[in-house]
Amino acid sequence: MQLLAHLPLLSLFATVTTGLQLLQYDIPAELLELFGAGNPDPVASSASSASSASSLAPSGTASASSSSTSGAASCYYPATFTLNNFTTWSPASNTSLSYASFQYVDSGTRIVTPCTYNATSRSLTAGTGLTDRYACDNNVISFIWQKGKLTAIETTCPGQTATKFEASGSIIPTGLKCGQTNGTNDAGLGQGLGTLCFSSSPLSANFTSQEPSPLQN
Ligand SMILES: *[C@@H]1O[C@H](CO)[C@@H](O)[C@H](O)[C@H]1NC(C)=O
Ligand SMILES: *[C@@H]1O[C@H](CO)[C@@H](O)[C@H](O)[C@H]1NC(C)=O
Ligand SMILES: *[C@@H]1O[C@H](CO)[C@@H](O)[C@H](O)[C@H]1NC(C)=O
Ligand SMILES: *[C@@H]1O[C@H](CO)[C@@H](O)[C@H](O)[C@H]1NC(C)=O
Ligand SMILES: *[C@@H]1O[C@H](CO)[C@@H](O)[C@H](O)[C@H]1NC(C)=O
Repeated sequence: MQLLAHLPLLSLFATVTTGLQLLQYDIPAELLELFGAGNPDPVASSASSASSASSLAPSGTASASSSSTSGAASCYYPATFTLNNFTTWSPASNTSLSYASFQYVDSGTRIVTPCTYNATSRSLTAGTGLTDRYACDNNVISFIWQKGKLTAIETTCPGQTATKFEASGSIIPTGLKCGQTNGTNDAGLGQGLGTLCFSSSPLSANFTSQEPSPLQN
């Protein structure tokens, strides 16, 4: 039923642009309504800037490529994301003291923010029974780091919908270079014996779902 409601608008957009076809998720009607006549196609612009960003590797200056649209209430659908300098540390014992950090880049929505998880990080879902997730410095972005898989979560069109929507997508980092640590000040972690892993290449993935956030407040 929700899908049927999308159909007229989706086919309208398909005649205007091919951008939406790149998205790997269905767009809720409330978000589609944000894109009335005259608004820019968010996906086409994010897709083109995302592909140039991934070939340029971790420059990550999203503000440098300023938008040609001066859209007052324009917003962009999260389509792809890239993690730069992805780093993890796992202690030899006491796995509750692990660590992860990376720079998050969504060149479509032009968000660049550091993200860190460590023993002092507070879960955004504490007390809810949901999987622990942690905010990045820009709290429009949060992430879940569990069992070698990173899930990025980006609020869609923040503040512009009655329902808070979020896009999510996952990546299993591969090609990490790992080494043993045995100090008290390894990369500022101060944890001692463990394994430090690092990705020297940017890690990119698509958002694959668009859902109301379980954290509406
Ligand atoms: C992301 O989506 C694009 C367009 O649908 C697709 O070509 C590409 O393979 C996807 N990338 C990944 C990592 O799934
Ligand atoms: C990645 O880490 C290197 C070495 O610490 C640093 O020079 C570079 O600025 C970092 N890149 C990003 C995008 O954070
Ligand atoms: C593991 O680390 C947690 C968090 O700092 C701490 O509460 C716990 O006591 C530690 N457990 C052991 C066995 O060291
Ligand atoms: C630990 O994580 C928090 C965010 O959860 C961050 O503010 C803090 O700088 C981190 N500490 C270190 C040593 O990286
Ligand atoms: C770590 O350092 C301690 C003290 O120097 C040493 O006894 C221990 O063998 C080292 N462990 C590893 C895995 O290198």
